[in-house]
Amino acid sequence: KTVSIVGCPFSGGQRRVGVDKGPIHLVNAGLVDQLKDLGWAVEFNGHHQFEDISAEVDPPIGKLKNPRLVSKVTEAVAQVVGDHTRRRSLPLTLGGDHSLAMGTIAGTLSGYPDACVIWVDAHADINTTETTDSGAWYATYTFLTGNIHGMPLAFLTSLSGSNSLSDTKDSQSVPFSWLDSVHLPPSRLAYIGLRDVDKGEKMILLEHNIAAFSMHEVDRYGIGTVVEMALDRVNPDRSKPIHLSFDVDALDPSVAPSTGTPVRGGLTFREGHYICERLYETGLLVAVDLMEVNPSLKDAADAQQTVAVGCSLVRAALGRSDIN
Ligand code: ARG
Ligand code: MN
Ligand code: MN
Ligand code: MN
Repeated sequence: KTVSIVGCPFSGGQRRVGVDKGPIHLVNAGLVDQLKDLGWAVEFNGHHQFEDISAEVDPPIGKLKNPRLVSKVTEAVAQVVGDHTRRRSLPLTLGGDHSLAMGTIAGTLSGYPDACVIWVDAHADINTTETTDSGAWYATYTFLTGNIHGMPLAFLTSLSGSNSLSDTKDSQSVPFSWLDSVHLPPSRLAYIGLRDVDKGEKMILLEHNIAAFSMHEVDRYGIGTVVEMALDRVNPDRSKPIHLSFDVDALDPSVAPSTGTPVRGGLTFREGHYICERLYETGLLVAVDLMEVNPSLKDAADAQQTVAVGCSLVRAALGRSDIN
């Protein structure tokens, strides 16, 4: 068994500096050796170097910020992750902001067309090019709208596409046109940990009958039951490959403080780990993302705690056990 670490120092899908440092801190904390200790062959050849597109040649299109840059970067990630999945190596993508999941999930679908996605997050990240300002208080703060890390699942499920971004003044290829042929059916997406979902997103979840388990369901049924309920929806006979996309802000800020959009009332340390352990145990996990670790937002101790928890979640997803 081989895991390929895809380090993605990228922050262009949101506004706060530092999330691009997440993968560097996670690797420097010893992640490679930790995974070798679990019996994995680990491929890691340095962090991905993304070509930069400066802000003046990447003005917003519609409400979207940095559309050309995010499109370019996620297309490159899709290529890399796709190569790993087609070779049957497990890609572990370290973010970076969650817009990167457009690349990771597109890559997974190229190797495993029937894969399902378990999305662990405080947020639904399914705003469309139209609904990105539908957060109740967001609309008044334009700097909080149009951030593509709140939209990856809209593009992946084809609720948004490059057609909504064509701009006649702009003859170069339209951002996200590479994603138009990619399609994750909404029936193969399940959320765990939601607690900050925008108005437009709620309508989408309802309209498309997407499996969404918020913190309310975690409290009500317990995490063990919630994970089975999520799998029952997207993977009823436990036969489909699973892509786990874990936004560290799914955890309570007391557990993972150093992240760009923390929301109180989140998963405990154990609940977060249980999800990873159970998905590993299915034997169906084929790709893992760990996103939104931002080591520069808090003091050094909080940053270090968040990085350590991130490494620990990854170990859980890759088979660490307390009794064997
Ligand atoms: N719903 C908000 C938005 O669309 C917040 C998204 C936060 N996403 C994240 N990956 N942390 O901007
Ligand atoms: Mn989030
Ligand atoms: Mn599409
Ligand atoms: Mn997210």
